[in-house]
Amino acid sequence: MSLRRFGRITAALAATTLTVGALGACSAERAGGAEETSDGGSETTMVGIAMPTRSLERWNNDGSHLEELLGDAGYETSLQYADNKVDQQITQIQNMVNEGADILVVASIDGTALAPVLQDAADEDVTVIAYDRLINESENVDYYATFDNELVGTLQGEYIVDQLGLDDGEKGPFTLEPFAGSPDDNNAKFFFKGAWDVLSPYVEDGVLEVPSGKAPATVDEWTSIGIQGWESAKAQSEMENRLNSFYEGDDKVDVVLSPNDSLALGIEQALEGAGYEPGKDWPIITGQDADEANVKNMLADKQSMTVWKDTRTLGDQVATMVDQIVAGEEVEVNDTETYDNGMKVVPSYLLEPQVVTKDDVEDVLVGSGFYEASDLGL
Ligand code: BGC
Repeated sequence: MSLRRFGRITAALAATTLTVGALGACSAERAGGAEETSDGGSETTMVGIAMPTRSLERWNNDGSHLEELLGDAGYETSLQYADNKVDQQITQIQNMVNEGADILVVASIDGTALAPVLQDAADEDVTVIAYDRLINESENVDYYATFDNELVGTLQGEYIVDQLGLDDGEKGPFTLEPFAGSPDDNNAKFFFKGAWDVLSPYVEDGVLEVPSGKAPATVDEWTSIGIQGWESAKAQSEMENRLNSFYEGDDKVDVVLSPNDSLALGIEQALEGAGYEPGKDWPIITGQDADEANVKNMLADKQSMTVWKDTRTLGDQVATMVDQIVAGEEVEVNDTETYDNGMKVVPSYLLEPQVVTKDDVEDVLVGSGFYEASDLGL
């Protein structure tokens, strides 16, 4: 962590009302991006923002929101998307370091592949915030800001239990097909753990049956059902295979545990192709992110719920962290136990996700301004 660099900035901030005045012009609430140079001038703090891909709606929203927030507060930003290619992301981060980034905000593609480039960043006193996804096997991750990932899975599992009435004496058996996220994404393990801790007791006592057999014996074996790169098309073909191979005649799938919306979209296409009909035999299906296509599918009874993470609040939290780092203040975190990256427990700020169903779309997603009613055909 760049104690030296930001120690210098803090001293500069404390010593000059001039700098504070200049910052006030950038943002009424937050400190801005000016840092004092050795000759007494001031230089803008540069924040590199590395996002995984443009192919998923949420990362586009995350990136543009953060870029705007930080830009409005007077920081210089460099926002890069890496097309889900690990090498491309490493090169982008390397370039940000070479171009003098002071702080890096990184939503990693492969959480274990960034240690060497983050060592280069640390050598240049760059402070690193892991964004949404933890970066593993590196000492040089200073902070982590995310939603409570395990809770995302817990909410999905509890939704299923509740909808099937499993705690109200409904005996089943019900057929379940579980999916998990990308094996290289640290979050995917937490999503699965949250859901599987809730659902596996019902699998063990036979109330939930998994005809495909794709039910990991333990949470640690979750990668066996992981969908690489969170790709909709891969989830679709996996679901098609399961339906073709394990469901004959009148056999139907009652529930699909999908960890997020991109997988849910592919699974919903497979169900459609297999002749399932909304309102008739369509299964319960979970999701995460409230992507536009999935919210529309919820309205059309093709998806039961999504776990909504208001990515604007994550951006706000990260912008606050950036301000606190630059001001040399203590960075606010609310979890110092959960996220061990193999080298250290990374101080984290966890935000709370929330379940959204068809009934809440208007109040929650439109009411909060996340969507315009017209985006959703309302
Ligand atoms: C994020 C999810 C997202 C998934 C696929 C995860 O790391 O937390 O919100 O759906 O990646 O991009």
